[in-house]
Amino acid sequence: MSNNQRKILVTSALPYANGSIHLGHLVEYIQTDIWVRFQKMQGHECYYVCADDTHGTPIMLKAEQEGITPEQLIERVHEEHLRDFTDFNIDFDNYYSTNSDENRELSSGMYLKLKKAGLIESRPTKHYYDPERKMFLPDRYIKGECPKCHALEQYGDGCEVCGATYTTTDLINPYSVVSGATPVKKETEHFFFKLSECVDFLRNWMKTGNRGESPLPPEAANKLEEWFEAGLRDWEISRDAPYFGFEIPDAPGKYFYVWLDAPVGYMASFKNLCARKGMDFDRFWKQGSDTELYHFIGKDILSFHALFWPATLHFSGYRTPDKICVHGFLTVNGQKMSKSRGTFITARSYLEFLQPEYLRYYFAAKLNDRVEDIDLNLEDFVARVNSNLVGKYINIASRTAGFISKRFNNKLASSIDVADIEALQKIQGAAEEIAHCYENRQFSEAMRKIMVLADVANEYVNDTQPWVIAKEDGQEERLHQVCTTGINLFRLLTIYLKPVLPDMATRIEGFLNVEPLAWGDSSELLLDHEILKYKHLAKRIEEKQIQSMLDKNRETLNMENKKDGHSQTRHAQAQQHEDTPVADTIEFDDFAKIDLRIARIISAKHVEGADKLLQLTLDIGNETRNVFAGIKSAYSPEQLQGKLTVMVANLAPRKMRFGISEGMVLAAGPGGSDLWILEPHEGAQPGMKVK
Ligand code: MSP
Ligand code: ZN
Repeated sequence: MSNNQRKILVTSALPYANGSIHLGHLVEYIQTDIWVRFQKMQGHECYYVCADDTHGTPIMLKAEQEGITPEQLIERVHEEHLRDFTDFNIDFDNYYSTNSDENRELSSGMYLKLKKAGLIESRPTKHYYDPERKMFLPDRYIKGECPKCHALEQYGDGCEVCGATYTTTDLINPYSVVSGATPVKKETEHFFFKLSECVDFLRNWMKTGNRGESPLPPEAANKLEEWFEAGLRDWEISRDAPYFGFEIPDAPGKYFYVWLDAPVGYMASFKNLCARKGMDFDRFWKQGSDTELYHFIGKDILSFHALFWPATLHFSGYRTPDKICVHGFLTVNGQKMSKSRGTFITARSYLEFLQPEYLRYYFAAKLNDRVEDIDLNLEDFVARVNSNLVGKYINIASRTAGFISKRFNNKLASSIDVADIEALQKIQGAAEEIAHCYENRQFSEAMRKIMVLADVANEYVNDTQPWVIAKEDGQEERLHQVCTTGINLFRLLTIYLKPVLPDMATRIEGFLNVEPLAWGDSSELLLDHEILKYKHLAKRIEEKQIQSMLDKNRETLNMENKKDGHSQTRHAQAQQHEDTPVADTIEFDDFAKIDLRIARIISAKHVEGADKLLQLTLDIGNETRNVFAGIKSAYSPEQLQGKLTVMVANLAPRKMRFGISEGMVLAAGPGGSDLWILEPHEGAQPGMKVK
């Protein structure tokens, strides 16, 4: 290998071991896998490691709900995750678990070094405690009534219905989602990592990284700047038993908070790989290492990777990352993925109906180096795959390969004509600029360039018209050259697409009867060589495959919902409703003040950023009203359009996070998907008073 061979260790974030892989996750694993495959094709020494993130309260509680041990749960999920990834052609060098000996040793070792450096402090703090389950509760496990609008089942950080922000202490009738009990504040002693003392180091690292260049994309660096300005607070790194995780050395009953040992899982996975392959772990992780370290993550976990992680690494004597590659979130048809809309598509539902490489191609065509959300528009997905991948790229082979086998005994010509060189050179000449795009994670630009070249190849075939030459006498040699050129154009495009379409490339290597293609192979042509008979390589997507996938996915989500119905979460919620006493009696005069009107729902829309709300435009006879209603879990906008309902027309307008709400529609039911808006019979007219 040449001297410019790089040694690169690459990671993707470790998925939690309590849920299935979905298409949102896959944005990240596909993005990383494409980058790694590209580096390997360049001849670099590149390792891609990952693992399941197995610790923490949600995993402990989920195992308990299923009546199994956390170890059993994480083993099962590990198998499921790895199968999903493998089927999407994500090629990890190691897929490990954070619940491993390597991780326990590394995490404890780092902790002890931080302690020695004076960066760990123990302090009393107060946290919510479930007196019935005898455990401390993470914020997401406490719900209650909004102090402003009295919506039920709101989390402690703010109300999704009226947009009010407050703290857990302000919730009315707060309850533990685990047992339904009322949480109490309880004092406990915890360990803190003194992040506040790492500011100078972090500011410097953010600007100059390890090699004089920021390790973060600009949007992420700006975010960090905001955090610095707001001031960094110390980080609480311990949790009390019961907790599924690593017990802290010399602190019985105290566990590392899951986010302390999770990123160490990157190291642990690599250490496990090193042991199996006889590689030098320290070379990659020591300070001043000559190797590169890249982390691919989503924008939601930036603080963990750009503050806590580099700080804990540095002050415990390890190297810091060279680059944190941050991507945005996946939306489906322009909306946040949602279980109620059925767009929370799991990897498995997709795989049952569609080829994995079509999604890889689509994501590649949309991904760039910025922290932008990317949209999976299902119509656009079908159109792009069919017209670009199948229509443009695969088509080149199917238009020329037949003649090679029928007329030339599968043998490619030994030379081509000067007239053919132009098209070939155009495509060969693009190798470097396409490589540059891959290297800088501008995949969409790479795909755009490659499709322009596929147009060049198709034009070549259109212009030379092999099907016409084939019918002419004495044109045997010309036909041979033209088809050989066509196959070569196809081979070059295959090299460029190989990081994205590894499985397709393997099948094409089989057809071309060649060794696995590397990037450098684009400088040569395939001549005087026997290939195999062409077999169909790809099918177009049919609309009905998409529909079947969505139907199947909805079914799976419904089944999960039903299972959850028996869970403690739902139980606690139900109990809460039964226990809600009837409110104080009101006088008839109070009731008479409420002006109830028939309203026609002219339009219903999703509200960007709101999980529960729909925005309704209501016709109440002589005026229209804008109302935000918390009924998204029960209705899709399409179901509501045109319907009649009953509204409180004289409610004072309220300013909400998303706009002003001018009234309230009436609905019945305990909430969630069991919620029904009141629907008067036909014959009622918008504006009529309801009596
Ligand atoms: N366990 C943590 C990561 C620990 S890393 C030391 C975690 N797990 S996760 O399963 O919630 O997410 C794994 C990765 O998938 C994260 O980088 C996250 O940003 C990404 N995504 C999860 N949902 C996503 C979308 N809808 N869209 C794009 N990426 C998403 O966070
Ligand atoms: Zn509220």
